[in-house]
Amino acid sequence: MKFEFLKEEPHGTTKAFFLSSAVWMVLGTTFGFIGAIQLVAPELLANIPWVVFSRIRPMHTNAVIFGFVGSGLIGCAHYLVYTLLRSPLYSEKMGKLTVWMWNLAVLFGSLTLSRGYSQTREYAEWIWPIDILVLAALALMFYNLFQTARRRQEKLLYVSVWYVFAGLVFTFFIYFFGNAVWNPATGSITGMPDGILAWFYGHGIVGLFLTPLAVAIAYYVIPIVCRVPLYSHTLSLLGFWSILMIYTHIGAHHILQAPTPTWLKVIAITGSVAMLLPVSAVLVNLWLTMRGRVANMHATIGGKFVFAGTLWYLLTCLQGPLQSLPSVQKVTHFNNWVVAHAHMGVLGFSGVIALGGIYFILPRITGRSLHSEFLAEMQYWLVLVGMAGFFTVLTVAGLIQGHGWLQGETVYRMLPQIHIYMVLRLAIGVLIVSGAILGLYNIFMTLHGSRGKEGSS
Ligand code: HEM
Ligand code: HEM
Repeated sequence: MKFEFLKEEPHGTTKAFFLSSAVWMVLGTTFGFIGAIQLVAPELLANIPWVVFSRIRPMHTNAVIFGFVGSGLIGCAHYLVYTLLRSPLYSEKMGKLTVWMWNLAVLFGSLTLSRGYSQTREYAEWIWPIDILVLAALALMFYNLFQTARRRQEKLLYVSVWYVFAGLVFTFFIYFFGNAVWNPATGSITGMPDGILAWFYGHGIVGLFLTPLAVAIAYYVIPIVCRVPLYSHTLSLLGFWSILMIYTHIGAHHILQAPTPTWLKVIAITGSVAMLLPVSAVLVNLWLTMRGRVANMHATIGGKFVFAGTLWYLLTCLQGPLQSLPSVQKVTHFNNWVVAHAHMGVLGFSGVIALGGIYFILPRITGRSLHSEFLAEMQYWLVLVGMAGFFTVLTVAGLIQGHGWLQGETVYRMLPQIHIYMVLRLAIGVLIVSGAILGLYNIFMTLHGSRGKEGSS
């Protein structure tokens, strides 16, 4: 029996993941935008149950994390393994199947959340059947890429390949344990151990799913764009092993203000500061590779996005250790400061690198240039200005809230103080949503439009 939607074509899996990423960027940011409207005018949509804040917020976070950034990074990962190991994907059919499973998971996840079906733990809100779909998709992706690696012509395993496989393996296990899938009714265990498990998971999703895949792309794109070998193989190994050794067990820095055991808090705080080691190893290595060639990075749109992503990575990971200190968190926890950090990590760093990977790889897999370099440039500026605006506005709003609470003000009495910042966030959100729409049009037309010159950019 032939299934048209599983049709085999060269790089079909990567192309389909790229298109999925672009679609989810539009939908996911629109969900965020609807949430932002409610933080400005809570009454406006109050009688539409499927978009109330408690539903639209997890719809937004899951759609952008798994749908937009996740699909983009996974699409790039399939191309990286193929090209770095000089071996075609083991099965494009299986690859396409994983694209469908992944998309159905995000779609059903969004629909069920909008109907009020939620397991309530952050980034683990999707109900059990969807968790199984995600796990099955991850297992199939791993199998497909592993079989590709087994058939490789290239014996050397470049650091990007290490990151891709580590990312997939770690994501499978943290997703399995973090969603407590053996407990389908609630997707959780009980009491404080559940808080610890939930943040072992939530932290792992950003640190062991998004981060390694984004770093893999940066390690791939930068030496090619700069036309030089990677600065240091030793530093790349140091960065790889140290992130796995440190990042895995510091999730308790999300629950320092809860009755978490003190020994675990100490591990989380010291580990968070120690994260400066893997982060500097990666960034020093990437930037020394670019030394004297930053102009090359800015000559291509893919390189530009990746370069910007490395800068946001630095800022995110300077802020991360800082806000892990109890004295700082006393002010910053539970307010918009953390929302600023979250957007900087998920959009500024991993989302921007995913976009860089997509624009870098698209001409190479379609055999023609981008539909419009101009639109890609526009998207770059819209996302970048939008991200900088989000960071500024949300950080200021967070500091106002935190300091007010420290003075003994109640939560609701601080709300008028941050109203203007919520309005600004809504306005700035227009930039990012517009960027997403331009990106979808451009990526769709590059893949399926009739225009486009032969040759890669
Ligand atoms: C692709 C781009 C985006 C990504 C990756 C992203 C990611 C995230 C993440 C990870 C959170 C959770 C924050 C936390 O719990 O600390 C979040 C929350 C949120 N985002 Fe976004 N976001 C994006 C774009 C947008 C846009 C365009 C808007 C519209 C203005 C928006 C509005 C919101 C709102 C209202 C929240 C909830 C904040 C709260 O609970 O106070 N986001 N987003
Ligand atoms: C050196 C590395 C990092 C450290 C030490 C760190 C530390 C932290 C801490 C302590 C919090 C909790 C703050 C609070 O609730 O008061 C947090 C939240 C968060 N971080 Fe990071 N971070 C790092 C890097 C990243 C990266 C690279 C990403 C994205 C890829 C990221 C995404 C997030 C998100 C989404 C949240 C919000 C979680 C929530 O919903 O409450 N972080 N981070």
